[in-house]
Amino acid sequence: METSVTFETVASAVALLEPRLAVRPRVGLILGSGLNGLADEIHEPASIPYADIPQLVPSTVAGHSGRFVSGILSGVPVIAMQGRVHLYEGYSPAEITMPVRLMRAAGADVLIVTNAAGGLRDGMQPGDLMAITDHIFLPGLAGFSPLRGPNDERLGVRFPDMSPVYDPALLALLERTACEQQIPLTKGVYAMVAGPSYETPAEIRLLRALGADAVGMSTAPEAVVARHGGMRVLGISLITNVPGTPPSEAEPQATTHQQVLQVGQSAVPRMSCLVQSFLAQLAAGEG
Ligand code: HPA
Repeated sequence: METSVTFETVASAVALLEPRLAVRPRVGLILGSGLNGLADEIHEPASIPYADIPQLVPSTVAGHSGRFVSGILSGVPVIAMQGRVHLYEGYSPAEITMPVRLMRAAGADVLIVTNAAGGLRDGMQPGDLMAITDHIFLPGLAGFSPLRGPNDERLGVRFPDMSPVYDPALLALLERTACEQQIPLTKGVYAMVAGPSYETPAEIRLLRALGADAVGMSTAPEAVVARHGGMRVLGISLITNVPGTPPSEAEPQATTHQQVLQVGQSAVPRMSCLVQSFLAQLAAGEG
């Protein structure tokens, strides 16, 4: 599982990517399960399949197409990842976060990361949007950090600070935007598990006891790499399912990938409006 990233690998990959971008990006966007539709809003897009960059590993999951889309979104030059690679696909943490390194090297200094997540806090409903205030990176705590291995100081420091990971000013701007647009938005802590199996009822109780408000299989590695590279990070979870909810813990609701994708589809307009309005504020010099 090793393969740590070197500056040279990033530089050679970005040399392939940069000439094909429509713009020099300011913001990198990671579009989670079912949220790929947001990339369709990008004006005069240029698409670059991950497969064209040999330093990137291919995605293996249905519903996660794999390409960068660059262009202008709400007045901001962006590079979006349509599809991401997960730890459960069998790649190393360093491999799955390589696209974040590339977005950084191409010029992005803000990362907006979205995901589909299971809601853990009482009262959460499928379709809710949650701004991520902090994360619990369970695989990272257990040694599956994308920063494991030799550190190249040109990419970031050996012991990067993670307090906070999610930028308070961006979070405040997102909350103001949601309020103005009358889009309900809650806040909370995201726990990352390795997956791909969904959690057992006992694991759900464990995660709640740890203080997690939502659970998913992505985001934390990308956010850590973005911070390592000095990016400011904003994270948004779309709650697609509420695992282990009443009628009773004895009859927990099953979670299926289909359900996760379907809720993603129905929430695209709201999520898309929130992200676009947020970007418009950034373009106007806020945040
Ligand atoms: N658990 C883990 N990952 C997820 C879930 C979940 O319930 N929903 C969407 N991604």
